[in-house]
Amino acid sequence: MFRFVQTIATCTILAAISGGVSGLAQAQTPAGPEAASQPPSTPEAQYQQYCALCHGEDRAGYANDDAPSLNTKSMFALSVLPLYNAAYYGRPGTTMGPYGEDMGGPLSSDDLYQMMMWLSREAGVPPGRPPANALDPVVGDLAEGEALYQENCAMCHGSEGEGHGPEAPGTALGNPTMLATSPDLFLKIAITEGREGTQMPAFKNMLTEEDINSITAFLRSRASGWDVEMASYDAPPSLENIVLNPEGEAPEFELDRGRYISSEQLNRALSEGRKMVLIDTRVPYFWAMAHIKGSLPVPYYSERSEFLSNIPNDGTWVVAYCECPRAAADATVSKLRELGYENTAVLYEGYAGWTAKGFPISVGKVE
Ligand code: HEC
Ligand code: HEC
Repeated sequence: MFRFVQTIATCTILAAISGGVSGLAQAQTPAGPEAASQPPSTPEAQYQQYCALCHGEDRAGYANDDAPSLNTKSMFALSVLPLYNAAYYGRPGTTMGPYGEDMGGPLSSDDLYQMMMWLSREAGVPPGRPPANALDPVVGDLAEGEALYQENCAMCHGSEGEGHGPEAPGTALGNPTMLATSPDLFLKIAITEGREGTQMPAFKNMLTEEDINSITAFLRSRASGWDVEMASYDAPPSLENIVLNPEGEAPEFELDRGRYISSEQLNRALSEGRKMVLIDTRVPYFWAMAHIKGSLPVPYYSERSEFLSNIPNDGTWVVAYCECPRAAADATVSKLRELGYENTAVLYEGYAGWTAKGFPISVGKVE
């Protein structure tokens, strides 16, 4: 069995679910006697301290900055994962900042999972396993989707998905971090069901499912930027061509704790055309939603030996990243080091951290 794949699946999907279950148990633990002098430790207390300012004490949103309601069933219908990502990495370009500790925020990954589980239960959606089709791509007609978007959505979300204008109460749908961390089905559910009690209408009674699919596919096609003229979908690199910039010089990475590089270091090396192998250790669908250009979606190659035999073990740098932000990439790099690969590194902030810092991404195609 391909060990990398198992690690990734556990990391990205199951952690969201099982992490929450232990989170619930912990959330119910009564505060100890020292609680008064400690920073808030329950999800609810953390919510009131950090989030209520904009999302409201009652979680109904719109206390400040057009912050959405965090109390709708349709928001949590798919999974807490997209919401966790929003809270951990923020939505750059809006007032929704990053709260995750790797992004300079005050809350750990576990704090935020627990908070999302708590919010989901409060909204009336007991957190559970996402449906089997949670990561299925939604396919539709892009040109049709764009026309339908301009007609039905632009007045609230902006003609370029910018949102939050004086007359645009909607969220920023053109936000690359939002699009890169929200599965197609999350978008489709929001459009189909609306967000009850907010201005976001349920389009299931106004548009056909085909129309909604086209709009969803159109939004996905904007994931690497609203201005790209034509959506271009990268095909995964072939196993024979996995070294980026084979003629380039080696990057000069300075590793933190012997292992990590920052998004800034990676972006500099890529834009200078340095030679390396870049591995995306997430499930392939995440690679398709958006990825760092030139990266190889490892789970594609289900035979580890086939994959490894194509990575030159000659000192070429191998950089791995994942969503978690680090667990799956760490496991991959540890494995490579065991096998004698000398120059290996993990992208510290992970994939969503990369997008949240505004570095370039591409949209991919998986069959
Ligand atoms: C300064 C105001 C502000 C604060 C404080 C704030 N948010 Fe937000 N939040 C926003 C805005 C504005 C958006 C919508 C951004 C957009 O257009 O995508 C948002 C979006 C979100 C979303 C995505 C909602 C959706 O519809 O997909 C989540 C989840 C979220 N915030 C959670 C939190 C949590 C949890 C906290 C506290 C740890 C928090 N926010 C603190 C303003 C804020
Ligand atoms: C009347 C204004 C309005 C119209 C029209 C409208 N929206 Fe929205 N939309 C909103 C608001 C407001 C929200 C945030 C609701 C909340 O959760 O508090 C939202 C949320 C969303 C979300 C969830 C975004 C996120 O950050 O999680 C999606 C996706 C979305 N809208 C897509 C669309 C599409 C596509 C259309 C057109 C078919 C559309 N909307 C039309 C106001 C509108």
